Amino acid sequence: MKLEGKVAIVTGAASGVGKSIAKLYADEGAKVVICDLNGDAASSAADEITQAGGQAIAVEANVSKEEEIQSLFEQGIKHFGTVDIIVNNAGIMDNFVPVGEITDELWDRVISVNLTSQMRMMRTAVSIFLEKQSGVIVNITSAAGLFGSRAGVAYTASKHGVVGITKNVAFQYAEKGIRCNAIAPGGINTNIGSTMNAPDPFGMERVMSGANNNPRNGDPEEIATVALFLASDDAKYVNGTVITADGGWMAY
Ligand SMILES: NC(=O)c1ccc[n+]([C@@H]2O[C@H](COP(=O)([O-])OP(=O)(O)OC[C@H]3O[C@@H](n4cnc5c(N)ncnc54)[C@H](O)[C@@H]3O)[C@@H](O)[C@H]2O)c1
Repeated sequence: MKLEGKVAIVTGAASGVGKSIAKLYADEGAKVVICDLNGDAASSAADEITQAGGQAIAVEANVSKEEEIQSLFEQGIKHFGTVDIIVNNAGIMDNFVPVGEITDELWDRVISVNLTSQMRMMRTAVSIFLEKQSGVIVNITSAAGLFGSRAGVAYTASKHGVVGITKNVAFQYAEKGIRCNAIAPGGINTNIGSTMNAPDPFGMERVMSGANNNPRNGDPEEIATVALFLASDDAKYVNGTVITADGGWMAY
């Protein structure tokens, strides 16, 4: 058991990558707070964990709202006593909209969910971690956080931003017992396509022009194992890095 007794908050944990991370963390002994916008799906995910003998609670929260993040931490601490690990995983796509077509509304929404939420989650987590001089942060970025045309302009900016804040937090708090790393998945088989309702044809063509270099799509479980490594003491000297998990796509 690599996370025995640890308390982990995983955002966007009712589906896809976040759900797999939550399940694996629970299997490894963590008490997991399943946070998601979709409260019913979050409750189902928590039930799956408890029925398998693990410990989990569901909290319906929109991570783009500060007051809901505060409530998320309050509920997690009320139930499990503290927080040791946060996984900033909740994210949405941007319909591959290029800069010439982006609206302020879409830009603000994608930046808010994918980037500002991670800053806010870390802001609260760090205040708890500093008291203990201990804590772990795992941020989910993307191939789009490292390369220029794996999505539209808003998603690309948000995920590049995640890489920046990960390195910033990692170095600035390195002597305070806090580690902060990111995972950059390639194409993963999840429900994230449901956040793409009307892809921009030009943006889609530009994004897809490199897609045939992707050796294969991955499964959420193949990201969860990386997230377990980063949260565990196996990674105690790993700080401020971005681990790509993409079957080799970014090596091209
Ligand atoms: N699937 C991929 O190919 C891929 C590739 C690279 C990175 N990622 C990243 O992985 C992360 C997880 O995505 P996924 O593919 O598992 O998608 P998913 O759609 O299957 O799961 C995302 C979950 O986040 C929740 N969510 C969305 N907005 C939220 C909000 N404001 N507050 C709380 N919860 C919210 C959704 O309800 C959903 O349950 C995202 O950050 C995504 O950008 C995914």
